[in-house]
Amino acid sequence: MRSPRFVQLHQHDEASVRAELAAGLLASAPFTHPKYLYDALGSRLFAAITELAEYYPTRTEAAIFARHASDMATFIPAGMTLVDLGAGNCEKAARLFEVLSPSRYVAVDISVSFLQKALQCLQREHPGLDMVGVGIDFSSQLRLPSETGEGPRLVFYPGSSIGNFTPAEALAFLRQVRQASQGGGLLIGVDLVKPLTVLEPAYDDALGVTSAFNLNMLLHINHLLGSDFDVRHWRHRALYSVEKARIEMHLDAVQDVMVRWPGAQRRFMRGESIHTENSYKYTPQQFEALLREAGFSSVRQWRDTQDWFAVFLAQDAANSQAGGQAQGRDNAKN
Ligand code: AVI
Repeated sequence: MRSPRFVQLHQHDEASVRAELAAGLLASAPFTHPKYLYDALGSRLFAAITELAEYYPTRTEAAIFARHASDMATFIPAGMTLVDLGAGNCEKAARLFEVLSPSRYVAVDISVSFLQKALQCLQREHPGLDMVGVGIDFSSQLRLPSETGEGPRLVFYPGSSIGNFTPAEALAFLRQVRQASQGGGLLIGVDLVKPLTVLEPAYDDALGVTSAFNLNMLLHINHLLGSDFDVRHWRHRALYSVEKARIEMHLDAVQDVMVRWPGAQRRFMRGESIHTENSYKYTPQQFEALLREAGFSSVRQWRDTQDWFAVFLAQDAANSQAGGQAQGRDNAKN
């Protein structure tokens, strides 16, 4: 049996983390990067969110894959390297092994320690598959190490995490993905524009799990920055901006508060807020246009029956070593 290989490239730099957090908190419109939502507890709370009745993206995307994965596979040559961005427990990608028959599985996350257990278990189930765990911060730069091999790669980016980038950042990221795919392609989950009555409860659930997820970021910041946020002084707020086509998450001060950390402090007046996350929603046409602008020339998509979520397969026909097998209609909704 093979053993998974691991390559850790991202190094946690405490001083730059503190500088980034302080700059956001001291800005005239205070903000924090959504990556700080995910400490150990934040990741568990996010996993709980995905089980909520109100949070439709996870189960809707899973239903699209359950129904259409074998159709998707007809456009993807067997034997590619499958690169799983933000792999975590590797479950979503592992469900595709049977239909995609990759020759190598590359699981990418910020730290290989998140991947170790999952890859070791997965290797037992797939003893012949070459597996590599890579620790990089792909949200700032997607450069895969030589251990991930030559040849076309299918980059897998499920979960609609692309929505947590601004559209400009998403475009830059998609361009990097196209390069990293080496003539392979991208399989990506995208959350679609839909009525407010569906969107807002998904980010403000009745049980308060999303509220806890958002507030927990303050505890994480206390740990990283040495600040003294008291979660009881803050309230979760989620709203959908039709104009910007995004859910915004904020933390609002419920009273005047002074927050201190080594070297600085900030007074927040009652009602002032910290902007903690955006989650952009796209129309199918907008996302296809973004993929084409990033240089992908062949785009296919599959949606659920309510048109709430889409999975796109984007390939670069000009450079494609994968294009030969493509069949069926481009841009078809299947
Ligand atoms: C990870 N990401 C796609 C989630 C989203 O829907 O934007 C994060 C999330 N925030 C609140 N609930 C879920």
